[in-house]
Amino acid sequence: MESIPKTKQWWKEAVVYQIYPRSFKDSNGDGIGDLRGIIEKLDYLQELGVDVVWLSPVYKSPNDDNGYDISDYQDIMDEFGTLADWDELLHEMHARGMKLVMDLVVNHTSDEHHWFIESRKSKDNPYRDYYIWRPGKDGKEPNNWQSFFSGSAWQYDEATGEYYLHLFSKKQPDLNWENEKVREEIFNMMTWWLDRGIDGFRMDVINLLSKVEGLPDAPVTNPNDRYQWGGQYFVNGPKLMDYLREMKEKVLSKYDIMTVGETPMVTTDDAIRFTNEQDGVMNMLFQFEHMDVDSKPGSPLGKWDIQPWKLTDLKKIMSKWQVELHGKGWNSLYLENHDQPRSVSRFGDDKTYHVESAKMLATWLHMMQGTPYIYQGQEIGMTNVSFPSIEYYRDVETINLWNDVVVNKGYDPDKILKAIHYRGRDNARTPMQWDATEHAGFTTGTPWINVNPNYRDINVEQALKDENSVFHYYKKLIRLRKEHPIIVYGSYELLLEDDEQIYAYVRKFNDEQLLVITNFSSEQPTFTLPSHITFTEKQLLISNYTVDENESIDTIVLKPYEARVYKLK
Ligand code: NOJ
Repeated sequence: MESIPKTKQWWKEAVVYQIYPRSFKDSNGDGIGDLRGIIEKLDYLQELGVDVVWLSPVYKSPNDDNGYDISDYQDIMDEFGTLADWDELLHEMHARGMKLVMDLVVNHTSDEHHWFIESRKSKDNPYRDYYIWRPGKDGKEPNNWQSFFSGSAWQYDEATGEYYLHLFSKKQPDLNWENEKVREEIFNMMTWWLDRGIDGFRMDVINLLSKVEGLPDAPVTNPNDRYQWGGQYFVNGPKLMDYLREMKEKVLSKYDIMTVGETPMVTTDDAIRFTNEQDGVMNMLFQFEHMDVDSKPGSPLGKWDIQPWKLTDLKKIMSKWQVELHGKGWNSLYLENHDQPRSVSRFGDDKTYHVESAKMLATWLHMMQGTPYIYQGQEIGMTNVSFPSIEYYRDVETINLWNDVVVNKGYDPDKILKAIHYRGRDNARTPMQWDATEHAGFTTGTPWINVNPNYRDINVEQALKDENSVFHYYKKLIRLRKEHPIIVYGSYELLLEDDEQIYAYVRKFNDEQLLVITNFSSEQPTFTLPSHITFTEKQLLISNYTVDENESIDTIVLKPYEARVYKLK
């Protein structure tokens, strides 16, 4: 048995709750969630027991990408309230012992940010070089890079006859991090928020900041591999570490905060480089490998081409991250966020075993090493939604996909709508389901996006009343993390590597072991305890079915989506 020499940190022991403010709680009847709505619900979050709240962007924004297109970093979006409301929110959170992490979106701004309004005016404008402008090549885009939201990553601009780079929507021009003035502006803005009292940043696509010099055409050998369309030239680019070290030195290192980088397309080695406690540049990150387990690699539709996933693939991915980062870096644990479908619909069974599978997934994730994130509604088992046609959808990524592949390329609309039902980001963005009244108690007005019709059965009011609800189960999981350091600091060993139904693992810390057994199927497979797991005492910490504590665990016939955690000595 080993003991872990790594330092104890509050952000390793914390559980984070993500709020997508637009869909959380509307306090003034305009159909859009807002800051006062969040204040109303802080007691609820305190009851759940979370330590940190990550707020998706609340800054001024024309909302092309719901706040991820920022037009003023130092003010609040009109629909969400005012800076005074925000100050009150921070105060109320701190009064409850909760911390606030803000979203930091600095790969790009909105095209309505005053820097860009200036920048596009003329080639000699002082803000020109805040963004990435290039002349066209042979009457076409400067290179072949593709946007994450379909189509070219370049937009032609009449005023100066040049193109600007946008890795996301054309209303999200990329900032030019090569420019020292840009970096200084961003660092000052970050300091301004930290001095106002925030407790950290979630850093949007932070590993895309540095682009390869010369912005060369990407050599595309497989036109269906998204990464080849420029990814190799802007993911973990040449100056990324310089920029992030400078950010750490000038800003982050001066505060006791937590930072989590959103980092697409990283390996475990990258993650160790970014998060190690000696010279890393962030506390933890969001990697995406497990979120790609159900996409067909190299498909022309990218993430929209869905393939059945295999538990053994998920095991390989999760176990690699668990083992390789242990003692060397730190990871986040997540199954949902505002960009991902609902986990109970994706990895569980949102019909027959809705409650059982939601609890099983929670157990499986929360017992691993890393800082767990709960996305609003996950704690009551909110599910995907299947709106009947594209008109019901609001997300720019989904709408661009539709225009690109259905309208322009003639793909089968039914097939694409099915993919959107499974994968679309609006699955996570339907309003939070508070109660069984109209619009799920989210708003007294007309919601900006429809509520999931299942709100009469799945809602917070109901969950709070029912002591066997998914909510109360999450509450217990969060409490267990506080009571048992092994959950935070223990090592990880996968059991039953080849089993396609049971995911089981052991955590070890000093003389203790934590045995986690989860059934990812609606069948009743038999779990057999491997002979090298020995113990003299066992204690059942949590389970999603009633279990006889004295039952032997040498072999267990598991119930559908059953989950159990034992502490062994
Ligand atoms: C990642 C964010 O999570 C997503 O919602 C957004 O669209 C892109 N970054 C662009 O900011």
